[in-house]
Amino acid sequence: MVGIQGISFKDKKVLIRVDFNVPITDQDIITDDRRIRNSLPTIQKVIADGGIAILLSHFGRPKNGYEARYSLSRLLPTLTTLLQHPVAFAPDCIGTAVQEQIDQLAPGSILLLENVRFYAAETLEDNNFAQALAALADVYINEAFGTIHRNHVSTCLLPAFFKERYAGYLLQQEIAAMDKLFSKAQSPVIAIMGGNKLVDKAKPIEGLMRYVDHILIGGGLILPFYHAKAKQARDCADSDASAEAMASKLLDLLMRNSHAQLWLPTDVLTVFEMHEQCAVSTVSLTDCLCGSYVVDIGPVTQAHFAALIGEAKTILWAGPMGIFEWSQCAGGTLAIAQAIAKATERGAYSIVGGGDSAAAITQLGYENEVSYISTGGGALLAYIAADRKLPSLEVLKR
Ligand code: 3PG
Repeated sequence: MVGIQGISFKDKKVLIRVDFNVPITDQDIITDDRRIRNSLPTIQKVIADGGIAILLSHFGRPKNGYEARYSLSRLLPTLTTLLQHPVAFAPDCIGTAVQEQIDQLAPGSILLLENVRFYAAETLEDNNFAQALAALADVYINEAFGTIHRNHVSTCLLPAFFKERYAGYLLQQEIAAMDKLFSKAQSPVIAIMGGNKLVDKAKPIEGLMRYVDHILIGGGLILPFYHAKAKQARDCADSDASAEAMASKLLDLLMRNSHAQLWLPTDVLTVFEMHEQCAVSTVSLTDCLCGSYVVDIGPVTQAHFAALIGEAKTILWAGPMGIFEWSQCAGGTLAIAQAIAKATERGAYSIVGGGDSAAAITQLGYENEVSYISTGGGALLAYIAADRKLPSLEVLKR
């Protein structure tokens, strides 16, 4: 991939594919603006060079064309404030009206295009749509790490229409952070995998097996692994056969192909009803009852996991240990955040995967005590699972 360092964008129309898919309240308050903030240096470089920055993004998953709640115009006030520079808005992302609007812009201007996903063509392999987008600019920059796992027009087909196509600062920074985990990692390397569903983490866990020494399991991944390990699933109506089969396969691969050790909690917090005020019990994992839900790792496990993290030199954290949004179930996630912060302080390199883990570490106040927080959730996991080869990145190589 070629970066934008040393490139001049003077008098160029530069299409920057950003990922402004940020969480936003009904009152238009952006609750995590990291994706916007981290892409500012690239935008600022383009305009400082005397180019025109044309920002292209998706926002949510609209189904049938325009939907007001998915309009990128909702982000304009934040973007303008963060950039401290006026940002024009185009109510479309292709067509002659947009082209005319761009032609009116002076060097050093910024234009935000409307949501690219208002066109269904974006998610299909539509060459005509790629061509229509390509007509807007002279240069393409991918700055959308959060979206590198989507084989969509604006990330995979569009770049090939440009002779000049680059990786923005944020994209480069994310890849460099991840590469520290792969090629340049110092042992012991620990991956802490939590979150809701094993299906989201199975491939990344398989990918990580080659690189890590320890895999710590939390959240919704606990029971499938426990059952697969115990080889005797609880005969419960609520047990998830496909997740257990997935866990079994992973354990098998781990045993045959990896030196990594997989650690399950020994104690967990469980509830019988899923609401914030429900009664929580701390039980040994082997005593989990049918019909109960695991909502956090227990105190013995917290101490054990913290000790393992304390020894680590490289750490990846992807997914909370439980329902950290409920104060009585936040202990496990907090213990992990604290252990990572301590390890980082004494020199370990730590990466927190986006989405829920980034929200957790921010909510718990450890945002500035880890080495790197990725703007990618699914993207980061897909990057690991694909062993760092994704079409959206390959197309930037030339
Ligand atoms: C994300 O938030 O994971 C990215 O912006 C991709 O969004 P998507 O899951 O709707 O494709």
